[in-house]
Amino acid sequence: MEIDSMEIIKSKKALRTILKSSRSAGKSIGFVPTMGFLHAGHLSLMRRARQENDLLVVSIFVNPTQFGPNEDLDAYPRDTERDTALMLAEDVDIAFFPPAEEIYPQGFTTYVTVEGPMTQALCAKSRPTHFRGVTTVVAKLFHLVMPDKAYFGQKDAQQVAVIQQMVKDLDFDLQVVVCPIKREADGLAMSSRNTYLSPRQRSDAVVLFQSLAEAQQMIASGERSALAVARSIETRIKPVQDAVIDYISVVDAETLTDLERLEGKILIALAVKFGKTRLIDNISINCGGPCR
Ligand code: PAF
Repeated sequence: MEIDSMEIIKSKKALRTILKSSRSAGKSIGFVPTMGFLHAGHLSLMRRARQENDLLVVSIFVNPTQFGPNEDLDAYPRDTERDTALMLAEDVDIAFFPPAEEIYPQGFTTYVTVEGPMTQALCAKSRPTHFRGVTTVVAKLFHLVMPDKAYFGQKDAQQVAVIQQMVKDLDFDLQVVVCPIKREADGLAMSSRNTYLSPRQRSDAVVLFQSLAEAQQMIASGERSALAVARSIETRIKPVQDAVIDYISVVDAETLTDLERLEGKILIALAVKFGKTRLIDNISINCGGPCR
């Protein structure tokens, strides 16, 4: 089936029907799962997927199972009209906007969980059920879309690691493509949640990127103590009014386990609350082999 303009699809049945005929026509499928309120970070995933695939499918679904009981599910920003216009401009073929009952029908009781340190560290300490919600919805979306390639942003580094583990463990026949973090001009990582920040919090929030860039500089100058790197970030962020550090972690980039000495590919990840808004950011660095 040829798709000339963007199809807006709400039901699983319609999605499966249209994708089945595209697949049997030999078209490759690129998939960008999102929770909407699209920003330039999402658009960069779509552009990459557009270039690399015949068909581009984007889902917009604010997934309730990845929000904890006291988190921002109801307040999470939504703008269907604007998202639709942005997707049209990116030449998206299929926009999948399922209602909640389409993904979680009455009686839904099956969840997908990646076990172990990967889902217990970093963000999981303050959001213990978050990754179970992410892997459950992403597994469902992968089953529905059956993409050749699925695109995720490095900003959610832990999410990427957890999804890659799930794809490997459950033999999903697709490639996870990880795209670089998109930043505002001053360095703040783009996020739908940036919209919650007051003007002062917004300008203060640049300290996250600055502290990570300074840490990168320390490592480039030879620092190999994870504690020293984490302390320098803490020293930079702590004095900022309204900033409350959730965590600053220096971990192995693949397993997300804590490091003492820095070697190989490492991830420095942090989460900081500005008032009620929790922001995350990270940087991955190749520290090379063991140090003498
Ligand atoms: O990164 C997100 O926006 C969400 O966690 C995802 C992957 C769309 C699952 O709901």
